[in-house]
Amino acid sequence: MEFYLDTAEIEEIREIAGWGVLSGVTTNPTLVAKSGRDLKEVVIEIAEIVKGPVSAEVIATDTEGMVAEARELARLSGHVVIKIPVTPEGLAATRRLAEEGIPVNMTLVFSLPQALLAARAGARYVSPFLGRIDDIGGDGVGLVREIAEAFGIHGIETKIIAASIRQPRHVVEAALAGADIATVPYKVMKQLVKHPLTDAGIARFLEDWRRAHQG
Ligand code: G3P
Repeated sequence: MEFYLDTAEIEEIREIAGWGVLSGVTTNPTLVAKSGRDLKEVVIEIAEIVKGPVSAEVIATDTEGMVAEARELARLSGHVVIKIPVTPEGLAATRRLAEEGIPVNMTLVFSLPQALLAARAGARYVSPFLGRIDDIGGDGVGLVREIAEAFGIHGIETKIIAASIRQPRHVVEAALAGADIATVPYKVMKQLVKHPLTDAGIARFLEDWRRAHQG
């Protein structure tokens, strides 16, 4: 499973990219607004650091508007992926962009029918929002499992991005449920690498080494 970072903060991206495990980045209007940066500027900068897929979301809600914004964003870098909400207008825009060879990540996916429609429209990625499903008492990981199963049965090549990840357990469960990619917030990424026994193990190795080498 690939790891993407779900952020528009350049310093966070630089740090995690430095681990050598980062395949891409996803942003959304909330994350870009929080960063205080201009969308186009930040997308170009992220693409230069990651050199992999960078999802940038359209703001328009009508098909023509989405297609126009998407074309502009796609011109910024060969790594740009257009994030489009799964609505009737979004599906139509996705079909048009797919025919032009512009990759689309269909976002705000909360059901298997939405994921199947997104794939049929030509989306390269679908993003089921685990955390937000759990927030309303649903089974976010269950949705990832269903999508992975249906895509497997039908030989659908659209990649599943487990999004709206809130805690390390979500990453574990998304991996086991068949997600191709987990897009993870910075805080959760830092939690993923930590284990108290790793820290204790290092401390003990160093201590034993020092003792043996202290004349
Ligand atoms: O980027 C989309 C998604 O990951 C948002 O997560 O925590 O706002 O539901 P969240």
